Amino acid sequence: MEPVNAHRFSIAPMMDWTDRHCRFFHRQLSCHALLYTEMITAKALIHGDAEKLLHFDASEYPVAVQLGGAEPDELAQAAKLAEDAGYGEINLNVGCPSDRVQSGAFGAALMAQPELVAECVAAMQTVVSVPVTVKCRIGIDEQEAEQSLPAFIDIVAAAPCKTFIIHARKAWLKGLSPKDNRTIPPLDYDLVRTIKAARPDLRIILNGGLADVDHALAESAALDGAMLGRAAYHTPWVLADVDEKVFGKSGQRPDPEAVLEAMMVYAGQQIAKGVPLHAITRHILGLFAGEPGARAWRRTLSEDAPRPGAGPEVIARAAGAVLGESWAA
Ligand SMILES: Cc1cc2nc3c(=O)[nH]c(=O)nc-3n(C[C@H](O)[C@H](O)[C@H](O)COP(=O)(O)O)c2cc1C
Repeated sequence: MEPVNAHRFSIAPMMDWTDRHCRFFHRQLSCHALLYTEMITAKALIHGDAEKLLHFDASEYPVAVQLGGAEPDELAQAAKLAEDAGYGEINLNVGCPSDRVQSGAFGAALMAQPELVAECVAAMQTVVSVPVTVKCRIGIDEQEAEQSLPAFIDIVAAAPCKTFIIHARKAWLKGLSPKDNRTIPPLDYDLVRTIKAARPDLRIILNGGLADVDHALAESAALDGAMLGRAAYHTPWVLADVDEKVFGKSGQRPDPEAVLEAMMVYAGQQIAKGVPLHAITRHILGLFAGEPGARAWRRTLSEDAPRPGAGPEVIARAAGAVLGESWAA
């Protein structure tokens, strides 16, 4: 069962970034943040190696899977596979603007097809008992978001869908790269707050441009939660505030040395299963961002972790630059 308030703080689904190693790392920094997988397409799950794609570590809980697709039957099959694998929430991607996703006519393109989104959600919710949620933009292209977003939310909410994570900027499907689509269209947090005021029965989560926990709490005060993406990845130590400040668990600040020790044990276990060290360490490069020694930490990890035979000792050696020679020894 999903904890009641797990959505108060979540870490965004990010392709190529929030894989299981990254999520394990983020879990060392917060016991309570809700974690999301990278987007997995329904087709990949149905026709590919679902067991491998859905594999996660029990310590990642609470964890949600994000699916991509626009065909209700396929999404329902995929959702069932994900529920059976143990995920506590199935999230539908209605926000990704990449060409690859557009050619499959899902992701952000679905903002223009709320009835289809509602059908997809209904098809999934019929076959799973965990909540089905939607992550969307405020609009796309020429849509007048002030009108189109409330209409979208009302139609999809009737599916039923109770939880919406709203990336508070439009996506431009033509002319902007996915990266530009995360920076150029302006943020409109007020529109997200308007949705919550109109639909207090829904759980509305704010996403987009939030820098840290204080910022997230301030902007989501009238909402049900906040989701951090890039800031959590590039400056993961911001997550050290989550359990105390968001979930009120005093005395639960992580200790950087304990985090590193956990990552070393994990790396050893994963290497024994054939995972290269670099697949894990690439996610922890930002751990000491802004601190003295951070550059040497990153350099040691980037240069030494990909070498053949590299083991957890590389993490200790890199940490020496920040935490002192006792670590490097
Ligand atoms: C590298 C990267 C990959 C992303 N992949 C996904 C994805 O698979 N599904 C999704 O809904 N959003 C994806 N996003 C968007 C994020 O989930 C989030 O909505 C966006 O980055 C805005 O939040 P932020 O300003 O806190 O980063 C991705 C973002 C980045 C930077």
